[in-house]
Amino acid sequence: MCSIIGYKGRQSAAPIIVDSLKRMEYRGYDSVGVAMIKDGSLMVRKGTGKVAEVNQNLGISDMSGLIGIGHTRWATHGGVTDSNAHPHSACKNNIAVVHNGIIENYKELKEELIAQGHVFSSETDSEVIAHLLEIHHGSDVKKTVIQTCKRLRGSYAFVAAFQDGTIAGARYEEPLIIGVGNDGYFVSSDVLGFLQHTDKAIFLDNCDIAVIDNTKMEIFDFDGVPVARPITQVAWELGEADKGKYAQYTLKEINDQRLTIANAARQDKSAMAKFCEILGNAKSVYITGSGTSYHSALIFKQILARFAKVRAETVMSSEAQDGLAAIDSDSVVIAISQSGETADVLAAIKTARAQGAKVLAIVNVTTSSLARSSDCFLSTNCGPEIGVAATKSFTGQLALAYAVTDRLAGGALKAGEQAEFVAAAEKVISMCQPAIEKMAGELSDVNDIYLLGRSAHYPIALEGALKLKELAYVHAEGVAAGELKHGPLALMEKNTLVVMLSPDDATHSDSISNAHEIKARGATVIGISDAKDEIYDHFIEIPHMEQEAFYPIVEVIPLQMLAYYLALAKNADPDYPRNLAKSVTVK
Ligand code: AGP
Repeated sequence: MCSIIGYKGRQSAAPIIVDSLKRMEYRGYDSVGVAMIKDGSLMVRKGTGKVAEVNQNLGISDMSGLIGIGHTRWATHGGVTDSNAHPHSACKNNIAVVHNGIIENYKELKEELIAQGHVFSSETDSEVIAHLLEIHHGSDVKKTVIQTCKRLRGSYAFVAAFQDGTIAGARYEEPLIIGVGNDGYFVSSDVLGFLQHTDKAIFLDNCDIAVIDNTKMEIFDFDGVPVARPITQVAWELGEADKGKYAQYTLKEINDQRLTIANAARQDKSAMAKFCEILGNAKSVYITGSGTSYHSALIFKQILARFAKVRAETVMSSEAQDGLAAIDSDSVVIAISQSGETADVLAAIKTARAQGAKVLAIVNVTTSSLARSSDCFLSTNCGPEIGVAATKSFTGQLALAYAVTDRLAGGALKAGEQAEFVAAAEKVISMCQPAIEKMAGELSDVNDIYLLGRSAHYPIALEGALKLKELAYVHAEGVAAGELKHGPLALMEKNTLVVMLSPDDATHSDSISNAHEIKARGATVIGISDAKDEIYDHFIEIPHMEQEAFYPIVEVIPLQMLAYYLALAKNADPDYPRNLAKSVTVK
């Protein structure tokens, strides 16, 4: 959620840190702060707002020094205020810390520290780390950090800057990565924080501490024993995270789908073979994910059953405690995640592992905790997805789900990189854009939208509703069209806005009947289909698909566009929806 970065090297640290924070801003964007160490003193500048704005107001990148730490925040404990922004320092003002995660025992620690005379200046859980570091501070930074970590419960990655110029990072259940540059070290929550400077990364394990002093960088475990972690070369493409010619990342990423769907369908053959072998040998299969990734799990489950005769259960990762209750060592869990860092997903696979199950992953970030801890993973190959709303990663997940199913089904789906959906997805972007932009302008006053679909279109109705909620702040509900008359029909009245997903497949005629029932109550119906019908008040045409199982990957794109253009019509920032963050690394 929050992003953290530390730098110690031969270059001016503040501009590097500000640039890193901009690149990682998708992780959290309610406040920003930087602490610099220079000539044995600590300086902190921090405030609420986006990185560019706070930097302009406070002149952060003008701060001098070669050692610094920075943070962008997504508030958990304490409101969005200047004093709650990180970095935090304690009473002596000689150590500053930035933190990502949640300190679960912060209340008892805070009471204990206050009883010892410590004065707190924020409402955050994170500030206890600064005071604990201060209490334990001695000549050995490693010991200081270990003693501090031993007092903390919860999840954390933190980086601390000490007055003597030492930087230290610690990791427990939150990612922390060292970037090894030619002229310095970086410590970051994401490789994007340093990839513009170096492609050499060291992924810290849980319970690792890294200490960077004036001569070296060393890694220890929480018992103080030195540990060796390999240097990994990270693909440079991961760093290609700019908007190009587009006004927003979200618009760019919607358009990227012209290429990324084909990239996802084009898989490394040996990884695909291994993935399918593990899956094919499983006695029971569970598919888990959160948000958008959960919606692709719903479709994956349907096509696995239909084409490969593989029965799978879908489990929302946040509900995995119950959903995975019957899992055993003959089971396989497929975890789907763009970031590979979602706390609920990582907790779900921990539950699965504890029962001896194997873990397969579908990820976009191949250096993520999920990818690295899985038995085998496949990559959606989409490149960085920065917009908070998942777009190209979702269609990448679907393309992969089709490819895996196709292999298990002996090629019945024809879902390789030449698949019918690749060209159709490219076509639908150009086909729909003008009509949707116009329609969104006309609908800018709308506050409620219902999205209806049957069978594979129901998960797309859920996904479309999620996009409309997070991007356009519209109350949107995905409804299984067949359930309409079991309740939701009561909500249909004059001017109720309904999007009907009704491609020309086996669901079409039933969906059209539903459209009539809705229209009879006075609702306005937007049809998304390849078959025009007079019942629709507005019509968004999508390409016809010979393989009807492929309609979902195509029909979701107009819904992404509708949410995007509606966000613009409502003056919302599609890249940075209020209250949200891209990677949800806390439970
Ligand atoms: C999607 O638009 C959302 N931002 C969110 O639901 C997201 O899909 C969810 O948090 C899961 O993220 P992941 O795929 O990185 O695990």
